[in-house]
Amino acid sequence: KQISIIGVPMDLGQSRRGVDMGPSAIRYAGVVEKLEALGYSVEDCGDLSIGRSERPTHQGLKNLKAVAKASDELYRMVKREVGKGRFPLVLGGDHSIAIGTLAGISRPYKNLGVIWYDAHGDLNTEATSPSGNIHGMPLAVSLGYGHSLLTSIGGYQPKVKPENIVIIGARALDDGERVFIKEKGIRVYTMHEIDRLGMTQVMNETIEYLKENTDGVHLSLDLDGLDPDDAPGVGTPVYGGISYRESHLAMEMLSESDLVTSAEFVEINPILDIRNKTADVAVELLGSLFGERLL
Ligand code: ARG
Ligand code: MN
Ligand code: MN
Ligand code: MN
Repeated sequence: KQISIIGVPMDLGQSRRGVDMGPSAIRYAGVVEKLEALGYSVEDCGDLSIGRSERPTHQGLKNLKAVAKASDELYRMVKREVGKGRFPLVLGGDHSIAIGTLAGISRPYKNLGVIWYDAHGDLNTEATSPSGNIHGMPLAVSLGYGHSLLTSIGGYQPKVKPENIVIIGARALDDGERVFIKEKGIRVYTMHEIDRLGMTQVMNETIEYLKENTDGVHLSLDLDGLDPDDAPGVGTPVYGGISYRESHLAMEMLSESDLVTSAEFVEINPILDIRNKTADVAVELLGSLFGERLL
C-alpha cells in the first residue's frame, strides 16, 4: 500500500478555534515515521490552504461558502491521489472535511461503505442543526441532504447510501438526527451496544455487514468517539466514550479484515489537549489500523 497524507487545517465547520492545528499535531506525533516504519511508502502532500477571510453565516450555516470552497479543493486532491492508486489518509481539521473526502473517494465504488467512529451522528441539516456548525452535518450531506452548495461537491450525489453506513460510539444525537436514523435505517452501535456486546462483537458484526454489502470502506474517525479521558483534545467532548483499548482493538480488527480503502482522523484540537496526547493516540491508532502488532 502506498499512502498519501493530506492535511486539512479546517476550523470553519465549528465554533472553537485551534482545530486547524490538528494536522501539525498529528505530524508532530510522528505519523509519517510510524507508517514508514510499518513498511509503507508515504507521501505527505502537505496542507490544503483554508481561507482566513470573512465568514458570514448563510441560511443557518456558519461559514458555508468557505467550507464549500475547501470541500471542493479537498475533493479534487483526494480524487487525484485515489487516481494514482494510493490510499488517501486525510488529517483534520474539523469533521466538515468529510464532505470533500467522501466526494473524492466514492465515485469508483458501486457501494462505498463508511464507518463513522464518533460520539455524534453528524446527520444534521441546516433545518435540524442546533448550532449551525457544518461539522455536525457531513454525513447527512454525503447522503444527499443539506445545502446544495455542499451536496453538489464533486458533481454527483449521494456519495454514500444509508444501508452502507455503520456509526460506532454514538452517545449524543439531536432530535432530528434520531428521526433521520430511524427513517433511513442507518446501522448504529451506540455506547449501549458497545457496553452490552463488547467491542469484539461490534466489530465482527460491522465487518461482516460491510464485507457483504460494499466494495470499499472509508473509516471516518472523529477523536471525540473516544472517551475524553483518553482523547481530551477535542472541541465537543462527551463523557462515557469508547476507551483507548477498545479503539485499538477496533483498529486491529479492521486491519485484519483488510476492508479499509481510505481513512480520515479529525477533530484534534491541540489548544484543548494535554501535551499532544490526543494526536499521540491518533498516531497509535493509525499504527494499529495499518498493521502494527506487539508480537
Ligand atoms: N450535533 C451537534 C451539532 O450539530 C454536535 C456535532 C459535533 N460534530 C463533530 N464532528 N464533533 O452541532
Ligand atoms: Mn484557527
Ligand atoms: Mn463528534
Ligand atoms: Mn464528527
